[in-house]
Amino acid sequence: MSEIQNAAAEKKQVIFSGIQPSGTLTLGNYIGALRNFVKLQNDYDCIYCIVDEHAITVRQNPADLRRRCLELAAIYIASGLDPKKNLIYCQSHVSAHAELAWILNCFTYMGELNRMTQFKAKSAAHADNINAGLFTYPVLMAADILLYQTNLVPVGVDQKQHLELCRDIAQRFNGIYGDVFTIPEGYIPKVGAKIMSLQEPEKKMSKSDPEETYIALLDDADTIRRKIRRAVTDSDGEIRYDPENKPGVSNLLSIMSALGAGEIDAIAAELQGKGYGELKNRTTECVVEALSPLQSEYKRLVADKAYLQSVIDENAKTAAYLANKTLRKVQKKIGYAPRG
Ligand code: AMP
Ligand code: TRP
Repeated sequence: MSEIQNAAAEKKQVIFSGIQPSGTLTLGNYIGALRNFVKLQNDYDCIYCIVDEHAITVRQNPADLRRRCLELAAIYIASGLDPKKNLIYCQSHVSAHAELAWILNCFTYMGELNRMTQFKAKSAAHADNINAGLFTYPVLMAADILLYQTNLVPVGVDQKQHLELCRDIAQRFNGIYGDVFTIPEGYIPKVGAKIMSLQEPEKKMSKSDPEETYIALLDDADTIRRKIRRAVTDSDGEIRYDPENKPGVSNLLSIMSALGAGEIDAIAAELQGKGYGELKNRTTECVVEALSPLQSEYKRLVADKAYLQSVIDENAKTAAYLANKTLRKVQKKIGYAPRG
């Protein structure tokens, strides 16, 4: 192989994903997103953003938002992401995100945004504040992804529709101006892409629901035990994976499997005839075991604000450099006047 071919072969593909610093992270965020970020970090160039601009589409208390941005940086690192290998930074620190979002707004149709199920759900939940940002939220997400010529986007299944819109916008833009954007693919885990609420297992586990419906990443072992013990199951007593008819039991099996306890069917077979008490004990063990190293590392990190600040500062500089390369190309293509 020639040197040039070698360099090309060594260039890793790019991963981009983001989490909103808008509340307590849940076990759903961990299983659907974070855990996969960690698995992918060695094989890809990874960019993991703290998407504070998305968070303000719902009213935030400024002091809380400020604190949560650093806390999310600590969670990223505590879950195993090496901030020297992965770009961990705040979206609002790289102005290219908002600038490209504006441009892409002009390539996105109202009809497309009207179809977004998350917009419909969030408008219903925040009927007093259906702002334009909530409506164009997926366009900002497309900008995030496209700025870095991203190949792969690890997310939970609730983001699939947004990702498809991102691909449509990119293809539309490329169709007019040539190959400006890489078309990204989703990376949605086979098991655990949608962890369900402990109390209403037909619904996604969400940080905006009441406390007892979700496991927070930072819940202690007693709290985890209590919440799982109270999780809604059903009355037939049989341990089997059947999300349609047995959503509660299936959710616990998915959680265990996603956390490394084996294939779902094998876990179900092993627990055959053992009763829901045992199923819940085993689930608790798996969750506590998965979260406790993250929690102790988090406690250590979050006390060191100066370190966290230096990570997001440094990484934002690198991110801005990469993002601006794409932004300048886009600006030139669409005909903005050249800079002197
Ligand atoms: P958010 O908390 O909305 O910023 O979501 C951050 C990431 O976590 C996204 O990739 C979501 O798809 C994922 N996620 C959120 N809730 C769940 C859930 N209940 N199950 C699986 N993935 C989830
Ligand atoms: N919208 C995503 C969520 O709520 C967060 C997000 C913002 C994101 N920008 C992104 C995820 C880019 C992946 C890629 O979960």
